[in-house]
Amino acid sequence: MLEDRNYRIAVMPGDGTGPEVVREALKALSAVSEKDGFKVELVHYDLGGDRYLKTGEVLPGTAVDELKTFNAILLGAIGHPDVKPGILEKGLLLELRFRLDQYINLRPVILFPGVDTPLKDKGPEDIDFIVVRENTEGLYAGSGGFLRKGTPHEVAVQESVNTRMGVERCLRYAFEFCRKRNKKRKLTLCGKTNVLTFAFDLWERAFHEVARDYPDIETDYAHVDATCMWMVKNPEWFDVIVTDNMFGDIITDLGAMIQGGMGIAAGGNINPRGVSMFEPIGGSAPKYTGRNIINPLAAIGAAQMMLDHLGEEKSAARIDQAVRKVVAGDLKSLSAGQMGYSTSEVGDLVARYIQDSV
Ligand code: IPM
Ligand code: MN
Repeated sequence: MLEDRNYRIAVMPGDGTGPEVVREALKALSAVSEKDGFKVELVHYDLGGDRYLKTGEVLPGTAVDELKTFNAILLGAIGHPDVKPGILEKGLLLELRFRLDQYINLRPVILFPGVDTPLKDKGPEDIDFIVVRENTEGLYAGSGGFLRKGTPHEVAVQESVNTRMGVERCLRYAFEFCRKRNKKRKLTLCGKTNVLTFAFDLWERAFHEVARDYPDIETDYAHVDATCMWMVKNPEWFDVIVTDNMFGDIITDLGAMIQGGMGIAAGGNINPRGVSMFEPIGGSAPKYTGRNIINPLAAIGAAQMMLDHLGEEKSAARIDQAVRKVVAGDLKSLSAGQMGYSTSEVGDLVARYIQDSV
């Protein structure tokens, strides 16, 4: 919490349905700031596919330095159907994660009461864990290249970069988080030590070394393929999962599905000592764009995570309660077009429950 409780937030609605869901997240933010008496100053950035198509520029030179001056960033979605895959994702989203050194990607997998999960016989008491994904290294580091590109003898190499420093700071964050969360106090390392015998050898050694500083946390290990299996079969075994960038990307889409879909899955790109960026993890959903039917709850959840991160825990809890009320009592489904309410109506409901909360 800032002493003057005056937060400067950079808002990046981005592409596709991003602007629609961010609008609703800002409604919740405004309702809760009024309720709890803090100020939010919003500065909008028009970064994304449309700007790139107009100007040819993905990320203006001064943007990163400007962004460093904010308390947090709220992002909608990046990805445009008219832009070749990779340009915006790498040039904007990954570039921001890297240059702002947001080395943690925090992704809760929580099934709210009243929400359908495709997992038979599993309920909210079974699906409640959080994935700590390393967010600046691994296969995402951009290391590798082509040899003899375009010829029959072409070679493509894409290397996974794992530094002791990068791995260790991620592991420490995960142990600390697990302790603070104070639920099962169990941290599972998700890797592939049976095949990736360099990368995950480093991870595993660092994991056990760091674990010595956290005797109160139970440690566990699962290969990534087995992690996918357990997430479906016994999700209740998990409390906190820590993993590398690529595996974290993959298992959190599976996580989103078991918690009710992309409409509810939020995440935070965290730099514990810098500027963090919060986003719904679902993407830009071009086919739903502009129709006022996309589910804004993931973006609202991102705003909640942002407030939690800023130290406004009470307000974060208020948003959490409002969202739980909406999914349990109002929405027919979490899927776009099937909620029984429009995007803006869902945002209105959340804002009203925030206003009515005690
Ligand atoms: C995510 C997304 C991104 C990733 C893409 C858009 C680069 O899938 O946030 O999970 O792979 O990290
Ligand atoms: Mn992903």
